[in-house]
Amino acid sequence: MFNIRLKVVCLFVVGFIIGFLAAFFISVIQHKNKYSTRNASLHDLYEPWFIKQQLRRYKKSFDTLRYGGPTFLTESTYLYNKIRFACLVLVRRIKYVKAAKMTWGTQCNYVDFVYLKPTKNRINSRKNITNSAWFLLCTNLSNLSQSFDWILILNENTFALIENMRYLVAPLNSSAQYYLGHSVKFWGVKYNSGQAGYLISNGTLAALRKKLIENSCSSDSVFWNLEDYYLGRALATLNISTSDTRDKLGLATFHGFTLQKLFSPGSITLSNYYKHSTYPALCCSTRSVTFQVQGTSSMFTYLYLFNQLQVFTSGSYGNHLATTPVPDQEIWKAVLREHGRNFTSISPEEYYDFWVDLVSDPNSFSLKLKNGK
Ligand SMILES: *[C@@H]1O[C@H](CO)[C@@H](O)[C@H](O)[C@H]1NC(C)=O
Ligand SMILES: *[C@@H]1O[C@H](CO)[C@@H](O)[C@H](O)[C@H]1NC(C)=O
Ligand SMILES: *[C@@H]1O[C@H](CO)[C@@H](O)[C@H](O)[C@H]1NC(C)=O
Ligand SMILES: *[C@@H]1O[C@H](CO)[C@@H](O)[C@H](O)[C@H]1NC(C)=O
Ligand SMILES: *[C@@H]1O[C@H](CO)[C@@H](O)[C@H](O)[C@H]1NC(C)=O
Ligand SMILES: *[C@@H]1O[C@H](CO)[C@@H](O)[C@H](O)[C@H]1NC(C)=O
Ligand SMILES: *[C@@H]1O[C@H](CO)[C@@H](O)[C@H](O)[C@H]1NC(C)=O
Ligand SMILES: *[C@@H]1O[C@H](CO)[C@@H](O)[C@H](O)[C@H]1NC(C)=O
Repeated sequence: MFNIRLKVVCLFVVGFIIGFLAAFFISVIQHKNKYSTRNASLHDLYEPWFIKQQLRRYKKSFDTLRYGGPTFLTESTYLYNKIRFACLVLVRRIKYVKAAKMTWGTQCNYVDFVYLKPTKNRINSRKNITNSAWFLLCTNLSNLSQSFDWILILNENTFALIENMRYLVAPLNSSAQYYLGHSVKFWGVKYNSGQAGYLISNGTLAALRKKLIENSCSSDSVFWNLEDYYLGRALATLNISTSDTRDKLGLATFHGFTLQKLFSPGSITLSNYYKHSTYPALCCSTRSVTFQVQGTSSMFTYLYLFNQLQVFTSGSYGNHLATTPVPDQEIWKAVLREHGRNFTSISPEEYYDFWVDLVSDPNSFSLKLKNGK
């Protein structure tokens, strides 16, 4: 018997998005009722799979987790060890590299960065082809270790919820050929938009490598920055096509925009991303797996909200009264004494510095977060 419980972090990811989007949902469902009758979605396969693995989960409060003593195997740790992810980040702006590594990237089993040569216009056939985004992605893919179940490819300004992604792919056979993301159709080719990130299975990678042995990476790429399109085109010749990754309500899970833009859809619905969508893409599923961020600080903010913030709603381990009541005016002295400080001679400035060390003011808090402490 497996003793496994739902990681509260995952619960929180879901909870947070529900809270954030509740109002949205209601209006979306009211307007687009026809999508709520879809039969099946990839996202519905997880629970049946979970039961079939003979796993059980128990909910634990943050109070128990943090102060209860024993540690538990969390569902996300279990999935982390079972479903191995390689994440390839296409980098145009280097400042994101450190933030990606320290935030969502920690949930990948392996992260690598492919540095692209920035260029303003997409058409640039006179440049050396070995510098094009597709060539670089292609050579890196063909050299990637085959010890991973899934390969995630995304841009440097995308935040990925790998924990949610593992829910999506856990029930799928990674030896089969999958190509998951936000599907668009352009120039007769269905491919997953790089703007939202996409996933290929190990089976797809194996088929692609076989093709690349005969047909080198430099065979096309007239267009400098259309690596997502070229990948889709290469996979199409192998009969590997995109899938519908929306949830049962027809809401999208891969997002090519920031949450701010998704929440005010007027600004983006006319973009090619939506115009060429294979499936109508509505914002936003509680199982969302990717979205963009603006600026590296946002990555740390989302990391904090999704993975670090703990909400204590019940429990008694961490929050109980002292056995002998301490008068209010004695508490600060007791705290200073506990930390070996002399309370009879402390100045207000020293007292302030002492607290900053202890609990972090907003500035030092954000500094510590960014230095991974
Ligand atoms: C839903 O399932 C029914 C019966 O299995 C089928 O007739 C129908 O075409 C399906 N609808 C969609 C949208 O797949
Ligand atoms: C991978 O990407 C890097 C750029 O980040 C490039 O220098 C390298 O040649 C690529 N190919 C392989 C096989 O690693
Ligand atoms: C393109 O660049 C690669 C290395 O960056 C070099 O080996 C190759 O000779 C170049 N090709 C042309 C046509 O300039
Ligand atoms: C893959 O990497 C090896 C060295 O690690 C290199 O010799 C080989 O040329 C690379 N393959 C491609 C397709 O770039
Ligand atoms: C990925 O596929 C290759 C080739 O089929 C296989 O050798 C390898 O074991 C697979 N890796 C995983 C993790 O399944
Ligand atoms: C997974 O897919 C591969 C290739 O399609 C197949 O050979 C294998 O039997 C499948 N495994 C399971 C458990 O379905
Ligand atoms: C792809 O499918 C077509 C038609 O079903 C078939 O003729 C072709 O051989 C397939 N190609 C591959 C690489 O499997
Ligand atoms: C605390 O400071 C006062 C005044 O500087 C001094 O008289 C006293 O001995 C100190 N107490 C301890 C425990 O260091």
